[in-house]
Amino acid sequence: MGSFLTKFNLSTLTSFGRNGGFVALDIGSSSIKMVETSIERGGYRVLSLGVLPVPLDAIQNNMVVNAKLVADTIRRLVQENRVKSTQVVSAVPGRAVIMKRIEMPMQEEAELDANIEFEANNVIPERMENVNLDYQVVNAIAGGSKLDVLLVAVKKEIVNSYTEAIEEAGLKPVIMDVDYFAMENMYEANYSTEPGGGMVGLIHIGARYTSVTLLNNGMSTFTGDLPFGGDDFSDSLKRELNLSSEGAETAKITGMVDGKKGFDIEAMLKPTSENLAEEIRRTVTLYGTVGTEEGDGLKAIYLSGGSAQTVGLRAMLEQQLVVPVRMAEPFRGFNVDKKIDRHFITEDAPAFAVGAGLSIRRPGDK
Ligand SMILES: Nc1ncnc2c1ncn2[C@@H]1O[C@H](COP(=O)(O)OP(=O)(O)OP(=O)(O)O)[C@@H](O)[C@H]1O
Ligand SMILES: [Mg+2]
Repeated sequence: MGSFLTKFNLSTLTSFGRNGGFVALDIGSSSIKMVETSIERGGYRVLSLGVLPVPLDAIQNNMVVNAKLVADTIRRLVQENRVKSTQVVSAVPGRAVIMKRIEMPMQEEAELDANIEFEANNVIPERMENVNLDYQVVNAIAGGSKLDVLLVAVKKEIVNSYTEAIEEAGLKPVIMDVDYFAMENMYEANYSTEPGGGMVGLIHIGARYTSVTLLNNGMSTFTGDLPFGGDDFSDSLKRELNLSSEGAETAKITGMVDGKKGFDIEAMLKPTSENLAEEIRRTVTLYGTVGTEEGDGLKAIYLSGGSAQTVGLRAMLEQQLVVPVRMAEPFRGFNVDKKIDRHFITEDAPAFAVGAGLSIRRPGDK
């Protein structure tokens, strides 16, 4: 069974220090998740975990629009958690990235490096000087005469908005990955030894977006985004109960309205859960059979992101998709330092799925 670790680096920074560790930052539209993992002979070890909210609207349209606010949050996050590592692994959102699968004649790596920009110029609808580009060979095909190559490009303006905020926080961005691929690496690190194989889905539900990744025997066959997330759940409570944004957020997470219990929040969230589950079902039905034998459909779904915990959502997905839907455990195969808050590796762990995948990336690990 082949597995395919998708390891991209869209940062243009090539030098990195030999000293000091690495810290992963998953910079989302509502919060920044920090994961510091060491890679030892005995496996992965989580050294610190933390999360802080991002000031409203500091991140818009998939980029950082207020570097100072984001930098201040990052600085607080590493200071409060006493993180010594200064080299940062982060990611741009998959929806900001242009991905193309191309075929190229079989060639050596050095040749490929030299030819890739020319090829990219033909298929990427942006001027090459305006994008950061990376690629990875997926497979040798056509009896070894050709290469199946995945090209990834992101506008410099977008990637720089993230790296500048990280630098403004006094840290050094050494890898800029893509959040989709971090999810795949999280799965690989924790679940690749699961018996069976076949098709699994990774569904990551954030504040504004939901990403859907389908893996067939560990190989990515589809990734896409839906413009749905936790904000839609909060908005529905805001309308239903006539609450402020903060009030709705609290009601969604704690079940309390104005400090009082007894509201059926799950019932109020049900129409939004149903809509989201239906959108996911449609996406999975459309793409979930690509490359699989008849009857070899989806085996399981792993649910992650801060909104994975929305009351009733997991059960709703299970009911509509008719497959087991499990909460992802991003640190399942990791050792975890004793000082880490248990909550982060139990209930809150799904929110760290992208962060966990980023935290095991290192420069040059293609
Ligand atoms: N216990 C909970 N129940 C329901 N929703 C929750 C809970 N905890 C957090 N959330 C929601 O999770 C969302 C934040 O998740 P996450 O940190 O994954 O998003 P993000 O990365 O900031 O967003 P995006 O990736 O869409 O830009 C918010 O909408 C928040 O309300
Ligand atoms: Mg996110």
